[in-house]
Amino acid sequence: MERPQNLIFVIFGASGDLTRLKLIPAVYNLHKQGILPDGFTVLGIGRSQMTNEAFRENVNCAIVDKVQQADNRTEQIDDFCDKLHYLSIDTGDFNAYDQVRQKLQEMGTHLNIQENYLFYFATPPSLYKTIATGLSKSGLNDQSKGWKRLIVEKPFGYDLESAIELNKYLLNIYSEDQLYRIDHYLGKETVQNVLVTRFSNGFFEPIWNRRYVDYIEISSSETLGINQRGGYYETAGALRDMVQNHLLQLVSLIAMEPPAFFDSHSIRNETVKVLHSLRPFPSEGIEKFVVRGQYAASKSGSEIDYLNEENVAIDSKTETFVAMKFFIDNWRWGGVPFYIRTGKRLKSRVTEIVLHLKPAPHQLFNDPLISRGGNQLIIRIQPDEGIALDFGMKIPGSGFKVQDANLHFHYKDLPQARISEAYERLLVDCMMGDSTLFARADAVEASWKFIMPILDAWKKNPSLPLYKYESCSWGPEAASQLFDRPEMQWRHPCASFSLTGACDL
Ligand code: BG6
Repeated sequence: MERPQNLIFVIFGASGDLTRLKLIPAVYNLHKQGILPDGFTVLGIGRSQMTNEAFRENVNCAIVDKVQQADNRTEQIDDFCDKLHYLSIDTGDFNAYDQVRQKLQEMGTHLNIQENYLFYFATPPSLYKTIATGLSKSGLNDQSKGWKRLIVEKPFGYDLESAIELNKYLLNIYSEDQLYRIDHYLGKETVQNVLVTRFSNGFFEPIWNRRYVDYIEISSSETLGINQRGGYYETAGALRDMVQNHLLQLVSLIAMEPPAFFDSHSIRNETVKVLHSLRPFPSEGIEKFVVRGQYAASKSGSEIDYLNEENVAIDSKTETFVAMKFFIDNWRWGGVPFYIRTGKRLKSRVTEIVLHLKPAPHQLFNDPLISRGGNQLIIRIQPDEGIALDFGMKIPGSGFKVQDANLHFHYKDLPQARISEAYERLLVDCMMGDSTLFARADAVEASWKFIMPILDAWKKNPSLPLYKYESCSWGPEAASQLFDRPEMQWRHPCASFSLTGACDL
């Protein structure tokens, strides 16, 4: 496998949770698999005063906790930890960035690494502009002696206006090909497999359109609440936290046209076209298309009400659940409703995409006692990753009675069953300069544009319903009323993947 060029990985926000829980374990796994270049080192930057040793100690614990529980190879971890350094600066002080440059040059010369730097913004979004400006003032956007790339975490902006502004600001300092707006859903193996399933098989694509698809359902349900993230979540809510980015990315991969080539430019051109074709929500009557909810305590009392979470306003209107119906106005999808849903503290943790196909046009084997609907194709993103297809087959014996049967593929049955963490894939791609799985400026703006009428309606009319739902349920009943026909229903999937059976108990 081709390895990235020598580089220094610089993390702003090095003492935060994202670094500890995701970034460091991902880089360690890459190191363990021999994917990193020989000349590789990490510089963690943060406000907290910390020695290299203390930083290494934290990192060591993070790896032992997250990655190595089963096989605790301390030597390998120690070897990795030797590559880590820490620098404490006040990120708001532009003079401090000369210190960063000097430190990087020292580390680079010492290890014979060129000036290839990957900067990761794992800080609160309010610091993005400041850090980018600080870096540029110290010449750390100049690519004459090595590449300089920036990974910017979500949320990218707070609304359409701020996203446009942030894009403009960053694009004044860095060029688009230096900017990597990360959406970790695109790093998931099963999300990338949507492209392979669609475009490497001859038999899916002919039915992947309005002639055969009745409706599409995409759900991402979580069992956890907001944990200690009340401060952030109160400014976000499920719509900004999950829909604007992760779920709309899934929609664009499912709905896109086949690209001319498999490269970043062609793929991102096609996905952004889907976002541009989303039918705008009306400014009045948004509640007919979008249902919002907020979790209440569970029946058993083991889960508390959202309003009693830490750092949450006692009269908060923040939604922890959203379900919506919308259309994509283009030739492929004209008239096909898309239903998407996400929520915290739901019954099971599952992300899946379901294509509900239209029933066979003429029911030859119709049994008045059994109404056979259309087939379903389910792409299970997580957990118990896989794909399943249901179809009707003859019940052996006399007559022609039909019953449901399933074709199932589970990733865990593959010989190399390790599914790498999304951050591993995305970090390597960025190191290699491949932006295919990162959001482009126009895509981020298009998805904000789509959800703005919802945000505006909720702001303008706070009395629009916010349904309370019991923790550990499937969310508010009202979400089912988005469907047009009684036989259309949200799936209630369990963590272990099967086409039939519902996780309702
Ligand atoms: C993050 C959101 O982007 O995605 C979290 O901020 C959410 O609120 C998480 O829990 C879900 O990611 P995953 O990979 O666990 O589905």
